[in-house]
Amino acid sequence: MKVVAGNASPMLALRIAKTLNLRLAKTTFKKFPDGEIYVKVEDFDDTNVVVQSLNCNENVVSLMLLFDALNDTEVVAVVPYMGYARQDKAFEDGEAISIRAIARLLESYASKVVTVNIHSKDAASHFSKLIDLDAMPIIGNYFKEQDVVMLSPDFGSYERVKVAAKAANCEFDYLEKRRIDAETVEIAPKNLDVEGKDVLIVDDIISTGGTIVEATKILLKNGAKSVKAACVHAVLANYALNKLYNAGVTEVIATDTVERVISKISVAELISSEL
Ligand code: R5P
Repeated sequence: MKVVAGNASPMLALRIAKTLNLRLAKTTFKKFPDGEIYVKVEDFDDTNVVVQSLNCNENVVSLMLLFDALNDTEVVAVVPYMGYARQDKAFEDGEAISIRAIARLLESYASKVVTVNIHSKDAASHFSKLIDLDAMPIIGNYFKEQDVVMLSPDFGSYERVKVAAKAANCEFDYLEKRRIDAETVEIAPKNLDVEGKDVLIVDDIISTGGTIVEATKILLKNGAKSVKAACVHAVLANYALNKLYNAGVTEVIATDTVERVISKISVAELISSEL
């Protein structure tokens, strides 16, 4: 078995290969002047683990070409960040269910698909061969020795944060939206008093950073001593990190499902345990 590093995930692919004592196949990526992508894979095996996150459109095309280059071999698709999962249903008539299209693509080539914290159960329901791993215990472990309280920015991520907080052995809560009157909505921690506390906001994805920026404003207004943020998938669109630091977030930490400078926590062992 060989590990094939997609253009989006070379560091994680190498970490997985090292964990499993496997070798990397040789991959070449080029772009033609018109923007078309060229992919070549050499030294592959009969069974290959392709590692490629789908955090932009180009990465989807590259993955498709990697699959084609591995024609006639058994392919396990490791997609650490499953892009397009937020469009997991048709919210309006005529909309594409994007993750369904991605699922069909992946499962037409791969014998198994492995991902980390896919955005929702609805998204996962479009796959039939999916293994969805949870990085929240690893995130929790990373913060074990730190005196923090964990906050989910909304109820949607509360269950995830609960898992991270259990691993970190710390208090946790979520931000709740309360309607005071017809004109006023107040957002505040549901149960915890954050005054004087070091707060860690935990979410699955940081994309534009808007969710964390808003949560940070509220927490600082409620007297939090400091605010840090952690996520599984550091998509970081549109200068998100700058926005987060400008808002007063003192540190942002992520896993390496999307490879960024803040990817201090690796999911390599977690993924390797499923291969
Ligand atoms: C929402 O459902 C997700 O859990 C994240 O909170 C969201 O995707 C973050 O996006 P952004 O960074 O653009 O606010």
